[in-house]
Amino acid sequence: MSPAKTARPPGGGPHTRAHTVAEACADAWFRGHGSGQVEIALSTVAAVAFIRPPDADAHTLIERTIAEASPGQVGEIIAAQWRMYLNARPDLANPIYPLMAPWFGEHGPSTIALKAAKATAQAALKAGIHTIHPHDADLLGPLLTLMRTGREAQARGQYYTPASVATMMVGLTGAPREGESVHEPACGTGGMLRALAEAMRLEGRDPATVTWAAVDIDPLAVGCLAANVVLWELGPRVLLGVGNSLTDEWITDAQAQRRETVELARTVRTVRAMQALTTAAGGHAPGPFAEGPAAAGPSSPAPAPAASAPQEPNAPEPGAGGTWEAETLF
Ligand SMILES: C[S@@+](CC[C@H](N)C(=O)[O-])C[C@H]1O[C@@H](n2cnc3c(N)ncnc32)[C@H](O)[C@@H]1O
Repeated sequence: MSPAKTARPPGGGPHTRAHTVAEACADAWFRGHGSGQVEIALSTVAAVAFIRPPDADAHTLIERTIAEASPGQVGEIIAAQWRMYLNARPDLANPIYPLMAPWFGEHGPSTIALKAAKATAQAALKAGIHTIHPHDADLLGPLLTLMRTGREAQARGQYYTPASVATMMVGLTGAPREGESVHEPACGTGGMLRALAEAMRLEGRDPATVTWAAVDIDPLAVGCLAANVVLWELGPRVLLGVGNSLTDEWITDAQAQRRETVELARTVRTVRAMQALTTAAGGHAPGPFAEGPAAAGPSSPAPAPAASAPQEPNAPEPGAGGTWEAETLF
C-alpha cells in the first residue's frame, strides 16, 4: 500500500514548511512501523507541537532529551502532554479520544509502535516543527492525508482544501465578527476554521470570541481538529462532533457528550481536592470544626478551572436558528 500524495503548496511559507514536517514524519512512521496505527503518529506529532520551546536553546534541549530517552520514556512524555490537554479541555475529551486512547489503553503501544513514535517525534523536531507558529499552518491535515493510503483517502473524499484556497475563500466571505457562530459541516482537520481565525487576527479580532461548531464523519480528522483547536487557540466555545452532517442529530449528541465529560472532570477535581484536604489533615477527613482552609470540608467548591476552561457556548445554534443553552459548567 502506498501513502497518499499531497500537493505541496508553493513558496517557503508556513504551509510549505508544514508539508515538509508532515512528509518527514510520515516517512519516519512508515519506515519504523509500516502502515496502520496512524493515530499514534498523528498523536505523537500533535504532542510535539504542543511543546512550545521559548527559544533555540530550549528546542535543542528538547531534541537532546528525546534523542537520549528510551522509546518508553518518549511514550511517557507524549502521554504527559495529553494529560495536560485533557486537564485543560475536558470539553474536548470525546473528539480527542482517537488521538489520546493509544497511550492510555490497558496494554499501551507495542514496542515497535513506541520506537516508531520516537523516530516520528525526532523527525518532527529535525524538520523544524517548532519553526512554524502553530497559528500559521495546519500540520495535521497534510500528515493525515499522507498517512492514509491513496485508495483510502480517495474513498473518503479526503483531499483537504489547500491553505491558499481556504484563505482566498475567506477573503470572499469575510472574517467572522466577535460573538458570531461558525458552522463547518465537513470539517476535516479544520483548514477552513484556521483560515477564518487567521483572517480575524489580521483584522485585530480574537477568534476565541467566536462559537465554532464542526462535524466530520471521520473520527480521526475530528481528533486532529480537537488538537488544532488548542494549537490555533480557537477559544472555549467549541463544539466538535463525529457524524453525518446530512442526516445526524450531531449537535444534540455532541452537546450531551461534552456535558458528560465536563461533569466528570468536575467530579474528578472535587475528589482530588478532597484527597488533598484529607492528606493535609493528617490522613483524616477534616471535621466540621477544623480550623483553617481545611474547615471548608466536604461542601467546598471545586477548584478554580484552568484559564482555558471551556464554557458552554451561548450562541445561535448552528443550522437550527435556536440558542445553545447558557450554562456555567465550572
Ligand atoms: C474535501 S474534505 C474538506 C475538508 C475541509 N472542509 C477542508 O476544507 O479542508 C471533505 C471532508 O468531508 C467529510 N465528509 C464527507 N461527507 C460528509 C458528511 N455527510 N458529513 C460529515 N462529513 C462528511 C470527509 O470525511 C472529509 O473530511
